[in-house]
Parts: sequence; C-alpha cells; structure tokens
Amino acid sequence: MSKQAVLKLDDQEYTFPTIEGVEHEKAVDFRTLRSASGYVSYDEGYGNTGSCQSEITFIDGEIGILRYRGIPIEQLAKNSDFIESSYMLLYGDLPTQAERDRFSGLIKDHAAVSPLMANALKGFPSDAPPMGILGSMLGAMSCYNQDIATNNRVTDLENFDAAAATAIAQTATSAALAYRVTRGLEGNQPDPSLSFQDNFLHMMFSEPGKPYVAIPEVSRALDLMLLLHADHEQNCSTSTVRMVASGGANLFASVSAGAAALWGPAHGGANMAVIKMLEEIKESGDDGSKFIDEAKSGKSGKRLMGFGHRVYKNFDPRAKIIGQACEELLAKLGIDDPCLDIARHLEQAALADDYFISRNLYPNVDFYSGIVLRALGIPADMFTVMFAIGRMPGWVANWREIAMNPKGKINRPRQVYQGPALRDYTPVAERG
Ligand code: ACO
Repeated sequence: MSKQAVLKLDDQEYTFPTIEGVEHEKAVDFRTLRSASGYVSYDEGYGNTGSCQSEITFIDGEIGILRYRGIPIEQLAKNSDFIESSYMLLYGDLPTQAERDRFSGLIKDHAAVSPLMANALKGFPSDAPPMGILGSMLGAMSCYNQDIATNNRVTDLENFDAAAATAIAQTATSAALAYRVTRGLEGNQPDPSLSFQDNFLHMMFSEPGKPYVAIPEVSRALDLMLLLHADHEQNCSTSTVRMVASGGANLFASVSAGAAALWGPAHGGANMAVIKMLEEIKESGDDGSKFIDEAKSGKSGKRLMGFGHRVYKNFDPRAKIIGQACEELLAKLGIDDPCLDIARHLEQAALADDYFISRNLYPNVDFYSGIVLRALGIPADMFTVMFAIGRMPGWVANWREIAMNPKGKINRPRQVYQGPALRDYTPVAERG
C-alpha cells in the first residue's frame, strides 16, 4: 500500500493517499481535501502543484535532467533529429524507418496553407509582431480544416495524425509567411524535396530565381534548436494547451492558446529579450558588469535575461548543449559576434557572483539560442516564433494525452476570494 499523508486541521485529522512517479517523484493526492474539510490547497503560480500525471517528458530540475519519453536530451541531441523526436513525443516510441517515412511524408503533404489563409495573412499591418500573426494563424487553422477540428473528441482523435501533421507543418509555413508578409515580400511555397528545417529556411529566404540552399552546419544548428525546444513538461504554454484542451477544444484552438502563453518575456519571449539586452549592453559600452549590478539591485526592473528558471535550480541541460553548438557554429561560419563576447562575460561573472549562486540562477536555453538564431539569419522579432515551431510537437503530444484520457475532467482551479464582502447595489444618483 502507498504511504498516507495525514493533515490535522481544526482538531480533525484527514488522510490522503500519495502517488509516486516512475522516477520516484512524490505527490500527496489532495483531490478530496475540499469535500472532506472545506479547505482548498493554496499554491499561487502552481510552483508546488502536480496538475496531471503525464508520460511524455521528465525533468529533474535539481540535478539538470531532461528526458523525452525516457531518453536523455543529450542522447537525442547527439543522435536524433527534430522530426524523429517529434514522432516519439507524439506517439510514445522512436519510429521504425517506415513509421518515420510516413510521418515525415504527412508533414510534407500538409505543409501548404490554404490560399485563403495565406491571403488572410496579408491583412495584418506591416509592423505586426510575427508572434501575433502566428497565434492568429493557429486559431484560423480550425476554420480552414473543419473536417479535422470539430471539437468532437472522437472525431478529432480519429483525425489526429492529419491534425498533428498540419499543426507542425503549417506552424513553420505560417511563420515563414509572417516573416515575408511583414517585409512586403511574396511568400514561398513549401518544397517537399527538402528536410523540415531546410524547407523552413527556403520558405524564409528563397527569392525568385535565387533558391536558398542551407549549408549542413546551418541546417543542423536549426534542427538542434528545434529539437531542444520540442517539449518541456508542464511549463506555462503547455499547461495552457492542456487547460484549453480539457474543455474539449480542438487541437488548433488549444495550440493557439499555447502560442499566446509563450509570447511573454518571462517565457518564450526571453530569447528575444536576451539579444535586446546584449545589444543594449554593447551600445552603452558596458562589458556587462554594470548591467549585472543593475539586475542584482532589482531597482531598474532589470533582470539578467536568459538566466534563471522556475524548475532548473542547478543548470539547464539544454543551455549546455546549445552553448557549445553556438560556439561551434560561429567558428564554422567565421562570425565574430561581439554579443557572444558579452554573453560569455555575463555568464562567467554571474556564475561567480553570490547573488546568482545563492538564488540558483543559471543560464537557461534562451541565453544562447538567440545568438544561434541570429547567426542563421533569423531576425530577433522571429525568435519567439522559432521557439513555437520547436515547441509544437510538445503541445500536440500534451493535447493528445488530455484527449485520450477517458476520465479527464475540465481543468478548473479554485481561488481564495479577497474582494469586497457582501454589499448592496447603489443607484448611480447616490454614488459619490
Ligand atoms: N536576473 C536577476 N535576478 C533574478 C533573475 C534574473 N534573471 N531571475 C530571478 N531573479 C531573482 C528574483 O529577483 C528573486 O530575488 P529575491 O529572492 O531577492 O526577490 C529570486 O531570483 C527568485 O526569482 P523568482 O522570480 O521568484 O523566480 P521564478 O522561479 O518565479 O522565475 C524566471 C523564473 C521567470 C524564469 C526568472 O528567473 C526570470 O525572469 N528570468 C529571466 C527571463 C528568462 O530568461 N525566461 C526564460 C525562462 S526559460 C524558458 O521559458 C524557455
């Protein structure tokens, strides 16, 4: 029998079961707390709340572990690629060659967005943020693919393969279109002869009569960046996807909410914020020392962007991989980026500073991903969009987990009300 937790409240004792995960994570199952005692558990920001039992991704933030479906991120970064890892996130296991070919083929088959959708995209203002466009396009996918996005769980699951391929492929297509349209350029049709990442670079950068041909180092760096972002357990955007999915919403509606959640600077917007910070430091003539002092004082509202993580309190394993890939890529491309020198200095200074050490603040994946993306020719306003392309398989896998749970309930947290107590309505003439 599993251990029991005993809670004493108002001289009464309540007993709750515990749950242990396969990696020995322990949880007290408080689901009956309110009905038994009248109390709810209070955990603003959900820092200590297990919102679900999931089989997709495991993180141990205390010792810097990240695994997709049990496989360490280091092994996947070395041996796998974005498409193969995406298949595994979605369906549970690494694909056979035939399964991989079919999955990759489905993604290619669904890469072109409807001409009407591409046209709708032209209606956005030329200075529209690409992340705003992407979120709208993801929502619009449920309008242009109504046969596979019905809000009927059985039908939506029957069509899951096509919907998943559409979400993954058309996120990349919409992102490239958003980039081109906001720059007054004609969109490029997807090229099914190319790999996922090379096709994306083609849709972004090919010009009439001048097809973009990615060199292997660029192609590999982009693939790695996408793979490292593919899932990350119950973060802000993934929890949002699950929340929306729990109400029965179709895949596209759910992932568009995920994209909205990703946009903020404390989450997916951090990679853009890192480059902005590094540029500002460079332009001010600082080597990073003054900025660190300001970030420590907290007075200016400044934070060392790309540092700190809600879960990783040792190091972010993705940051180690991408930091090394970043150094290799820049050396290969012969790029001398002064922002990289500032980033190196910030990292060294922060890692030796008691403020950051005592708060367990280490570089996260976004500290270096912006520099990698810049070296690939991706402009800063597209960085969060790149994160969304990478995270899409994780969102889709989490949507599927919710959709396939026959006992799943709509997610509906409680609150502790602190507003005015009961009072009477006052007619307007009597209001002071
Ligand atoms: N720079 C300076 N101080 C920081 C930073 C930072 N980047 N991050 C946290 N702190 C300090 C806080 O001021 C606070 O100090 P205090 O205890 O003296 O008040 C302490 O560390 C704890 O901070 P919290 O905000 O409570 O930590 P939390 O776990 O809630 O926040 C977060 C995590 C949002 C990622 C935060 O570290 C941050 O804002 N980092 C910069 C933005 C960033 O890089 N986000 C990307 C996250 S990774 C991702 O989404 C892929």
